[in-house]
Amino acid sequence: MSANRSVFKDEAKLDINYVPNRLPHREAEMRLLTEFFSFALAAPGKMAQRVLVVGDVGTGKTALSQRFGADITQQAKQRGINLHCIHVNCRQYRGSLFLILHYAVSTFHPTFPKRGFSAEELLNIFLQVLDEQNAHVILVLDELESLIEREGAEPVYKLTRLQEARFGKPQRISLICILKSLKSIEGLDPSTRSTLQSNIIRLEPYSREQLIDILNDRVQLAFKPFTVPEETVNLIAEIARSEGGNARFAIELLWRAGKYADAEDFSYVPPEFVRKAVSSIYAIARKSDLATLTLHEKLLLLGLARFFKENSDRAYASLTEVERTYAVVCEEFGVQPHTHTQLWKYLQMLSALGIIKKSVSSAGQRGRTTLLCLPSIPVKELEKELTTLLEKEVEGG
Ligand SMILES: Nc1ncnc2c1ncn2[C@@H]1O[C@H](COP(=O)(O)OP(=O)(O)OP(=O)(O)O)[C@@H](O)[C@H]1O
Ligand SMILES: [Mg+2]
Repeated sequence: MSANRSVFKDEAKLDINYVPNRLPHREAEMRLLTEFFSFALAAPGKMAQRVLVVGDVGTGKTALSQRFGADITQQAKQRGINLHCIHVNCRQYRGSLFLILHYAVSTFHPTFPKRGFSAEELLNIFLQVLDEQNAHVILVLDELESLIEREGAEPVYKLTRLQEARFGKPQRISLICILKSLKSIEGLDPSTRSTLQSNIIRLEPYSREQLIDILNDRVQLAFKPFTVPEETVNLIAEIARSEGGNARFAIELLWRAGKYADAEDFSYVPPEFVRKAVSSIYAIARKSDLATLTLHEKLLLLGLARFFKENSDRAYASLTEVERTYAVVCEEFGVQPHTHTQLWKYLQMLSALGIIKKSVSSAGQRGRTTLLCLPSIPVKELEKELTTLLEKEVEGG
């Protein structure tokens, strides 16, 4: 397919990292953020702010805070205020305060060493750098759950009480904390929690109509004129609504449906390609189920994946064959294999999740045997995903 036959004019506008200039249906939330941070332009250093942004998957938390950060730093620049917005995804930094602060410091000193300091010292260095440069920072802690999960309440406590040891000096660091739900901060001490909760912005799941507006904006930006019919947009909005009002899901469907149109040489994107895109995404979503499996369920499944990789002409494996590859996998990861009875339970679980299919061979040979099949996940992908998960789990535990 040649480039001029594509339905896209600018596919990058559908990239997950692209932050659009305007976010339909988040205008009120944007105004609220601007209000909370009005001091940063009017009287920087006079105070520090803490804001909590809470909402389900794909409700625009990251996009909102990034759009806001870009806008406010731009305005600050025009006024000669040295304001930086540093957006850190805590999960990406493995929930480690040290790594998060190292990233923050390295935005000012790109070659700052990774060794020789504690998180506490890094925080002081960070403040010192900001004092030296008369800089102010809005630190966005995205997916704050992982920091709390790994290090408990302490880091948040420290970050919200920075000023107590700096009496009389300008306040340098404000926080925007992003969470999926308030549950994860229930364990924090009451005063830290109340400091965080005093300014809270809740992002509700998008309605079908709101998703249609969001999608139409992206259609304008990313597709050639008249390539995406209204019906196609409506169907995507309908599906994304039933997936919890998730805008990411909607945009991903739009992109995939467009890719199918290009692959099949269509000059427009009919609803059928949306349906195709949905079924391919559900297969991928299954991957996130893998992370929730127990250690031996993962080992057993990896054994199964290995079996089918080595026997690429086979659709079914017998239980005995899988037990054999499972034992090899256990040895590889230095784990004691579980008994036959236990394995049976794990297979029930994997089958209940729809990851594997169990069936019983018709009587013949010597009695009935249980046959196992992997219906919908490509073996190589499964092996890669499980190996990554297992390496983390076995090495970490
Ligand atoms: N109001 C909106 N207008 C335009 N695009 C939006 C809007 N809300 C979200 N999006 C887009 O939807 C996708 C998901 O949004 P975002 O990443 O901000 O969700 P999130 O709340 O951070 O989700 P998660 O909890 O999974 O991190 C992004 O591509 C974002 O640009
Ligand atoms: Mg996000």
